[in-house]
Amino acid sequence: MSTKDNQKVYFGDKKVSKEIKKDGVETIFTKVSENYDLMNDFMSAGMHRVWKRSFIDSANINKDDVCLDLAAGTGDIAKLIAKKVKEKSIYLCDQNLEMIEKAKERSLNEGFYHKCFFAVSSAEKLPYDDETFNHVFISFGFRNFSDKKNSLKEIYRVLKKGGKLHILEFSKAQGQNFSKLYDFYSYNFIPKIGDLISGDRESYEYLVKSIRTHENQEEMLELFKDTGFSNCNYENIFKGIVALHRGLK
Ligand SMILES: C[S@@+](CC[C@H](N)C(=O)[O-])C[C@H]1O[C@@H](n2cnc3c(N)ncnc32)[C@H](O)[C@@H]1O
Repeated sequence: MSTKDNQKVYFGDKKVSKEIKKDGVETIFTKVSENYDLMNDFMSAGMHRVWKRSFIDSANINKDDVCLDLAAGTGDIAKLIAKKVKEKSIYLCDQNLEMIEKAKERSLNEGFYHKCFFAVSSAEKLPYDDETFNHVFISFGFRNFSDKKNSLKEIYRVLKKGGKLHILEFSKAQGQNFSKLYDFYSYNFIPKIGDLISGDRESYEYLVKSIRTHENQEEMLELFKDTGFSNCNYENIFKGIVALHRGLK
């Protein structure tokens, strides 16, 4: 392993090796997989559905496009993509087996299984050929990646020329008063909601901390540019609590 690989990364608010972050993230998502959708609705008061719909609606997906839903979780992004594409052309990839199983179950129950391929793999080493996809989508997954730079390189590799990366992620809330209010809500209420609904305070403390130590809007822009993406931009949603980042290969 090179010195570079030994660099420490944030896991919540602690700096750890990439391997420890990967294992820690795995453990958390295995624990939360059962109540994941319910928790999202509670924590965001249903707003995550609106953000995700506009994430996909604004992506200009053509009916023949091939799409990767990376860090696919329980497959709600893939379901939105399925309404836009004609063929079996949606690839769901997540490093967590339990989450991918939930996504499979959703696709069967909600009628879009026939448009999907599933893979359990990490973003740092994608199991796809060069220049496969017209779009790569990552919704609320990127901040959990143990090696963000390498993942971006992998995404760049699997995108076709002219293909687009779209990332929806928590970001830096804008305005001092609003940030304070948001901090108060997230540090005091989110772990409590996690405890009440799933008896798991710790994973939701991780969630809050991981948002605070994740790159802000401008730092994400730099990461995109450093990877080689062009036409990079971002859009703040809900006063920067969430941001939509885009880049073109
Ligand atoms: C917060 S969930 C997001 C799920 C879904 N995309 C959504 O918007 O609700 C984050 C997902 O990222 C996955 N994940 C974390 N690190 C990953 C990595 N390095 N490669 C692939 N998936 C990863 C987790 O297993 C988890 O399913």
